[in-house]
Amino acid sequence: MATIKTENKEVNVNNGDSIIKACEELGVPFDCKVGACGVCKIDVVEGFDNFTPLTEEEKIMGMEGQGRLACQCKIKQGIVKIKF
Ligand code: FES
Repeated sequence: MATIKTENKEVNVNNGDSIIKACEELGVPFDCKVGACGVCKIDVVEGFDNFTPLTEEEKIMGMEGQGRLACQCKIKQGIVKIKF
């Protein structure tokens, strides 16, 4: 089991899952869901290494530092705290 959380809410997901559904529950906005629009950008506050590596789409969209596209990353395990 893995967990995506914000300052005041958390959602559990299975290890290896996409985080789209959990982030929708947390209130992250989505549009294209294929890594092309940038609407779902989140910043990782804690647990960055628990996400899978940057996808090609994220690199093209210029993600760097703690920034990720929520429609692109999967959670490997553990807890990731995000803000958006
Ligand atoms: S929803 Fe468009 S990049 Fe994630």
